[in-house]
Amino acid sequence: MSILDKHQILEKNASLLFLGSLLVVTIGGIVEIAPLFYLQNTIEKVEGMRPYSPLELAGRDIYIREGCYLCHSQMIRPFRDEVERYGHYSLAAESMYDHPFQWGSKRTGPDLARVGDRYSNEWHVQHLSDPRSVVPESIMPKYAFLKETPLKITNVSMDLKVNSEVGVPYSQEMIDNAKADLMAQADPNADTAGLLARYPKAKTGDFDGDPTRVTEMDALIAYLQMLGTLVDFTKYDDATGYR
Ligand code: HEC
Repeated sequence: MSILDKHQILEKNASLLFLGSLLVVTIGGIVEIAPLFYLQNTIEKVEGMRPYSPLELAGRDIYIREGCYLCHSQMIRPFRDEVERYGHYSLAAESMYDHPFQWGSKRTGPDLARVGDRYSNEWHVQHLSDPRSVVPESIMPKYAFLKETPLKITNVSMDLKVNSEVGVPYSQEMIDNAKADLMAQADPNADTAGLLARYPKAKTGDFDGDPTRVTEMDALIAYLQMLGTLVDFTKYDDATGYR
């Protein structure tokens, strides 16, 4: 009896075939699911990722409020065309502090996962205020009002605290200093030593071209300029995680 003949026995008997399939799916399921119960975390830690600074977090809230995610993704897929255009594909760790995540599902505009440092603050102010003044064929809406809207800074520490409750490792020190850190990040004359110790690589200074007050434009640009800049990819290796 050849192996195919033996297989006929299974194929011709519905109950036996069902039991056989169940067995195979069960083994496959256990192999996939069982390890998850023994892993502390399914996200590989990557050097450089840190919780967002209070100003970046405020900018992120504006990004969500304005629905930027409806036209922009923040997830570079591991395909050659994407990697050549946007940079290293996104790592799970890079969105581990996002609640909710901003991967998006539509790209009317380009992916923004690594837009940080790609343009100057001035370019962002100009582009957000009037996209067609820098990219004539753009269909992006104008957000000029962000520059005229003072940032609401009454509940910054609550914002950090809520995030800490869903697992973002904000320390008590970060929560206590939230308001001061937010103001310092947008003030070109501030002492930023404490801020930078808590949030390494945070961009500081005036973002919107008006150093006298902190606007929603300041917060949004601080957020955009941070995107994709935290992980140092010269130290990252695809196969092992680290060089
Ligand atoms: C209706 C869709 C739409 C919405 C909503 C939208 N954008 Fe855009 N965005 C675009 C398009 C299209 C482009 C490409 C043309 C251009 O540069 O203006 C773009 C480009 C950009 C760029 C330049 C990216 C690059 O790599 O050149 C940035 C930054 C940006 N948008 C940020 C935002 C932010 C922040 C918001 C929310 C406040 C937003 N966009 C909302 C469609 C949109």
